[in-house]
Amino acid sequence: MAWAAETLFLMAPPLLVTFAAGLSGVWRIDRIEAVIGSGLLPAARLAVFEGSGHPGPATWVLRGVTSNTRYTQRQELDTLATRQEALGRPHATRAALIPIRKTDAWWALAQDERRAIFEDRSRHIGVGLEYLPAVARRLHHCRDLGEPFDFLTWFEYAPEDAGAFEELVRRLRQTEEWRYVDREIDIRLTRA
Ligand code: HEM
Repeated sequence: MAWAAETLFLMAPPLLVTFAAGLSGVWRIDRIEAVIGSGLLPAARLAVFEGSGHPGPATWVLRGVTSNTRYTQRQELDTLATRQEALGRPHATRAALIPIRKTDAWWALAQDERRAIFEDRSRHIGVGLEYLPAVARRLHHCRDLGEPFDFLTWFEYAPEDAGAFEELVRRLRQTEEWRYVDREIDIRLTRA
């Protein structure tokens, strides 16, 4: 059963990740901008806990969990695997944490309808791939955790790729997919 071994090898187990904004953490918060909907309180630092770590006193805390993919097709997964790099690269000293919530209309759609908007018409993966390997990414799901957002998206890149990252978010925000986003906050960070 070669496919079973391959599937087990590729699928990382879900990882709970806690983002705590306050006075401590390796990431300095450069700006917090409410793109759509209500914002988050300002803070100086962001700490990221993977697994069982618990934050102390914090201005705000967001939690999400890594998960299996929903929309990505085999060929896209293979292309992503060859191009995307891991988090924590020493030169990638800039980061973005972009919490996103989608509308009830989005969640009322069927899976095939969401895929058609997400990739066939908005080309989220196709556009995103153009910015790899400069940008490393990790998607956290939180809709089922009772959190205020549906997703916590995390990106790391080098200072010289900051312009390219701005272009990427600008392009994605113009897509049909983004018409279904009703809360989005853009948090930019520098590793201190
Ligand atoms: C760096 C290039 C990027 C690539 C290669 C990329 C790729 C992907 C892929 C493959 C998925 C689908 C995962 C699945 O099948 O479930 C996804 C989902 C998602 N991405 Fe990106 N992405 C990129 C940048 C971004 C940016 C900049 C944002 C935010 C501004 C973003 C927000 C999201 C969100 C919210 C989802 C979840 C969509 C949903 O399940 O409804 N992505 N991305």
